This record gives sequence, structure tokens and C-alpha cells, in this order.
Amino acid sequence: SRPDFVRIVEVGPRDGLQNEKQSIPVATKIELVERLAQTGLRTIEAGSFVSPKWVPQMANSSEILEHILRSPPRAPHPITYQFLLPNAKGLDNFMSIWQYQGSAKQGAYPTPPPTPTEERGPALNTSSEGPNVMPSATSGTEAIGKDRGSSEPSSVADVELSIFTAATETFTQKNTNCSIAESLKRFEPIMSRAKELDLNVRAYISVALGCPYEGPNTDPHKVAELAISLLEMGADEISVADTTGMGTAPKTAELLKTLSAAGVETSDMALHFHDTYGQALVNSVVGLEHGVRTFDAAVGGLGGCPFSPGATGNVATEDLVHLFHSLGAKTGVNMEKLSEVGEWISKELGRKNESRAGKATLTS
Ligand code: HMG
Ligand code: MG
Repeated sequence: SRPDFVRIVEVGPRDGLQNEKQSIPVATKIELVERLAQTGLRTIEAGSFVSPKWVPQMANSSEILEHILRSPPRAPHPITYQFLLPNAKGLDNFMSIWQYQGSAKQGAYPTPPPTPTEERGPALNTSSEGPNVMPSATSGTEAIGKDRGSSEPSSVADVELSIFTAATETFTQKNTNCSIAESLKRFEPIMSRAKELDLNVRAYISVALGCPYEGPNTDPHKVAELAISLLEMGADEISVADTTGMGTAPKTAELLKTLSAAGVETSDMALHFHDTYGQALVNSVVGLEHGVRTFDAAVGGLGGCPFSPGATGNVATEDLVHLFHSLGAKTGVNMEKLSEVGEWISKELGRKNESRAGKATLTS
């Protein structure tokens, strides 16, 4: 069936930046989040509470969380910010900021003074999406998605937690220094605290379509088994990740069939493609055809996992948005604004803008 709305989870500030070698000023990271918040994106993964010895680039995530809680980016709609954490220590570090600032769901932060309109720029403009986008795709400010839409400017940030494990033992060891079973054990206290605090939890399953250590043929049944365990533990969403970009259209279809046969609903699932082999868009279409409606991406195609040698960035958000709009689906994202963010952050980092659709949008 034709998709009408596709939700994009922007992971650029986390997955996109975590592997950058030079240290990125926290002000640049915050500016990236602020700029993304103006594009119509509704979910942004903004940082991670992992060991700074393992991933130094994410060491200042607490400052980003603090900023978001204290003065949530003024966006045309509510935005959910996700933070990645691997264990109870990460949760404690997250909590020390989050608890101090109060719960978003209780609306406990002071509302920041309104920003003058000229500094913020106009609200999302539905007519500025460029000539090649189908009329139904110019979604702009409409209220869309499962209770995530509102045309009122929002000054409250909703926060969610992301946990992560992997479908092979070797990758789990390399990434988190534990076995798959131990990683699930580590999630138990995180899940129970999250439920008490009414925080949503998304769970990633890495190397679902190939592992840098165990080869290209990850067992789809292992992915399904993990997805079921994580859902039973209380995860609100499973993000099935092609960490290495080894996924192909037939492998993606097989994995999705296996997940469905095991009872994993597509409404509980997101797909997270890295684009190492340039297959992310075609794999996304396979995902859409199987009913998946949530996709992760990073603006400008930023990213890579420090523990997946050779793997390149996430699929570029601009490329996904262009694809979904071309299929008549709404994303709520303004392609021009998004493309400008991709160009800006690529320049800031001194790297090539990896989004073809983004570059084309800016030159057309
Ligand atoms: P470990 O060294 O085994 O940890 O690391 P430990 O429990 O033995 O503790 C050692 C020290 O680290 C202690 O400090 C702990 O307090 C500290 P000390 O007593 O020596 O001073 N520590 C921490 N500090 C800060 N935050 C924490 C934390 N935990 C312990 N959370 C650990 C185990 C899991 C922490 C480590 O392996 C780690 O941080 N791994 C994360 C790796 C990572 O961030 N990978 C990238 C993200 S996942 C990804 O990109 C994939 C994804 O995009 C999907 C896909 O594409 O596949 C999501
Ligand atoms: Mg990733």
C-alpha cells in the first residue's frame, strides 16, 4: 500500500558525529540540533551517555541534554530528543541532568522567552519545497504522526532513551565489552527506571544485515529473537540496524519476513541503514513495501560506528526525504531547510556533503 506518512529519526548529532576524529565544540553540536529542529524533523537523537574512554566525541552529551531541557529549541511542533545509553552508569549520568531539570512530561521547565521571529526565520513554508516534489508531499506544518503533531510553536522537549545490542557476539564484545546475554541483563534496570519515569525506550539491534567480524550473513532468526526479547522487556520501538551497509534488497526482504513471521509488528520497528555500499535507498523501499514507516538517517550522510571498521555514514536524511516525497509520502520535513543544514554541518566539519539530493536541491 502507498505510504502516507513516514517518520524520520534524525541521528546525525549522535551517530553522525560520534566517529569524527577532531573534537567538535559543544556549541557546534547544539547549533546542529537547533538547526535540525527548524526543518520539520520530529525526532532527533542528540547524544549518548557512553564511556568517554570508548567514544570521546560524545563526552559532552550531558551539556547538550542540559541545553535542550533548559531552553528547548523553538520548533514549529513538539520534538522528541533521544539519548543513547549502554548501561546503568549511562542511565545515572543521564538522570543526574534529567532529574535536576525535571520531567519533560510534567512540563516542569521554565519556558524560555520568545525568540524574535526575524532571528528564527519564518515558520515552515509549504510552498518552498522545490518543483520536483509531488503536491501531496509538501507537508510543511500539518499535524501528522502518532500524537506528535501540532502547529503551535513548542518550547517543551520530550526525551527518550535508546539502548543498543547486536545480533552477533563478536560485535557486541567489540562495541560494549559484553556478550549479547549480558547486554540484555544490563537493560533490565534501565527498562524498569524508564517505565517508572514514563520515558520511552527504543532499542537498536546492530549488524542485523552483516557484521564486520562475523561476515555478511547475520542470522535473521537471531535478529527476530532479540527483537522479541527487547519488546517483551518493554522496548517501545526496535531499530533494526545495518551497521556495515552490507544489506541488499533480497536480504532486507528476508529479514523483514523473518521478523514478521516471529510476530514483530512493523509499527514497532524502525530501519537504520548505513550507506557504505550505496544500497540504503533501495533497502528503504523494501522496508516501505513491507510496511515499515520509521527510518533513521543522518543529515549530510554523516556518521559511522567506531567499532565497525570501514563502515561509512548513515543514509543521508535529505536523500530519504527526497525518496519519500517522490513516492507521495509526507515527512513533515522541509527539503530546502534540511539541505542547508547538511551543507552547513559538512562545511563545519570540513567533510564532503554526502547527500546527493541535498546538493542538488541547493543548486537547482
Ligand atoms: P567497560 O570498560 O567494560 O565498562 O565499557 P566498565 O563497566 O568495566 O567500567 C569501566 C569504567 O568506565 C568505569 O570507570 C566506569 O565508571 C566507566 P572507572 O571506575 O574506571 O573510572 N563507565 C562509564 N562512564 C561513562 N558512561 C558510561 C560508563 N559505563 C562505564 N555509560 C561500556 C563498557 C558499555 C561502557 C563501553 O563499552 C561503551 O561505552 N561502549 C559504547 C560504545 C559506543 O558508544 N558505540 C557506538 C554507539 S552504538 C552504534 O553506533 C550503533 C547504532 O548506530 C546502530 C548501528 O548502526 O548499528 C546505534
Ligand atoms: Mg548507526
